[in-house]
Amino acid sequence: MKLLLLLVVLGLELTLVCVHAEAKTSLIGKNFNPQKIQGKWHSILLASDKREMIEEHGSMRDFVEYIHLLNNSSLALKLHTIVDGECTELYLVCDKTEEDGVYIIYNGYNRFTVLDTDYADYIITHLRHIKNGETFQLMKLYSRKPKLSSNIKKNFGIHARSREFLRKIY
Ligand SMILES: *[C@@H]1O[C@H](CO)[C@@H](O)[C@H](O)[C@H]1NC(C)=O
Ligand SMILES: *[C@@H]1O[C@H](CO)[C@@H](O)[C@H](O)[C@H]1NC(C)=O
Repeated sequence: MKLLLLLVVLGLELTLVCVHAEAKTSLIGKNFNPQKIQGKWHSILLASDKREMIEEHGSMRDFVEYIHLLNNSSLALKLHTIVDGECTELYLVCDKTEEDGVYIIYNGYNRFTVLDTDYADYIITHLRHIKNGETFQLMKLYSRKPKLSSNIKKNFGIHARSREFLRKIY
C-alpha cells in the first residue's frame, strides 16, 4: 500500500515536471512543420528517468533510420533495436493530436513530443509512457549526420538535466 502511494506520488511529480518543461519549450509551437522532419536521422544521445530503459540491452535503446509523414498526418519512425543480441526492426506509427508537435502511440499509452528541431541538423524528441501506473520518460537527440556539433549536444544536456534524466551516448 505504501509502495503504491509512493508510485502514485512519483507519477504525479513526473507529470508536473514534464508539463512544466513542455510549456517552456515554445520553439516548435505553431511553427512546427512535420513535413520538414522527414528523412534520414542518426541516434546521437538519449536520456531517461529510468536507467534500465537505456542500458546496453535496454528495450528503449533504439537506433533511428528515418521519419516519414504519412497520408493521415501520422508520423512513421523506422527504428532498430537489439533484442536478445539480435538487431530487430521496429516501425512505429505516431498519431497526430490537436497540439502541434504532439503525437500518441499505442492507444495513448505513449505521448511523443517533438521538443526542438532546426530540421537541417538535429531533432530532440520526448516520450512519456504511462501504463498501469508505471511511468517513464525518454528524451532523444537525433542528427542528420553521424556527428553533431557540441553546442547542440550541450543544449540536449540542459534539457535532460532540467528533468534530472540520466544521459547516455550511443
Ligand atoms: C495517400 O492518399 C492518396 C490520396 O488520398 C492515395 O491515392 C494514396 O494511395 C495514399 N497513400 C498511401 C500510402 O496510403
Ligand atoms: C494512419 O495511417 C497509418 C498507416 O496506414 C495507420 O497505422 C494509423 O493507424 C493511421 N492513423 C490514424 C489516426 O488514422
